Amino acid sequence: METRVIDGRELSNRLREDIKSRVERLKEKGITPGLAVILVGNDPASAVYVCNKEKACNKVGIYSQVIRLDENTSQETLLEYIYGLNADKTIHGILVQLPLPPQIDTNAIINAIDPAKDVDGFHPVNMGRLMIGEDCLEPCTPKGIIRLIQETGQPIAGKHAVVIGRSNIVGKPVALMLLRHNATVTICHSKTVNLKEIARQGDILVVAVGKPNLVDSSFIKPGAIVVDVGINRVDDKLVGDVNFQDACQVAGWITPVPGGVGPMTITMLLENTVLAAERKWVE
Ligand code: GUN
Repeated sequence: METRVIDGRELSNRLREDIKSRVERLKEKGITPGLAVILVGNDPASAVYVCNKEKACNKVGIYSQVIRLDENTSQETLLEYIYGLNADKTIHGILVQLPLPPQIDTNAIINAIDPAKDVDGFHPVNMGRLMIGEDCLEPCTPKGIIRLIQETGQPIAGKHAVVIGRSNIVGKPVALMLLRHNATVTICHSKTVNLKEIARQGDILVVAVGKPNLVDSSFIKPGAIVVDVGINRVDDKLVGDVNFQDACQVAGWITPVPGGVGPMTITMLLENTVLAAERKWVE
């Protein structure tokens, strides 16, 4: 069977058109969705991500405000910025780019963001709502993964989904979201025994570990949907956690790196900002 590549760029472009119309509808009502991004320090990768977020906002008509702070910024100063943005009526979404410098307690910062403006979906209120199946701002990468899987046209309900990786940003939330879509979910991690055998049972296999080429065709059930969340730089090239060429021998569908999950993460950030501005999800 031929492997179909799930094109995250094409899907992103399509979804961004819809986001653009929602922004226009909000503007007709006098509301311009606004996203504030805080970048602390000089991490080059973070600086690139923040620039990409800013550009993407501008393209769909979302107002974006980037606050760049010194590497030595104290936790108190950062908290003051967040309190200011929580109270700012022109800002509907707040994102603090991670990782933060060591003098700052990341959880204290996430906890300070108004959950209604937490477009990353990292606040315990949003995480808790996700856990119990209530409306919430969902984390962007997992949300993008679900959309990519839905793009195959295959139902998620009843499928065995295997997630490799248990991070708070991807593994845990995507497992909860797959469960919400009625998949039977297995979460694997670095201490899992017989990883390959378990992975091979997955009708859906999500790999979010950060290890280049961890997964090859021997981990994949024939015909499975494979979502590669890894973005690893190897010899100046971006590669995923899945050996793409080899996986294509058995997978039914697969997301490429780059051009799979990556573009979807920013698109979901835009969508969450619009959702926060529409405030449809708040009772
Ligand atoms: N750093 C890497 N990924 C992310 C993300 O999704 N959100 C934030 N805030 N920082 C990140």
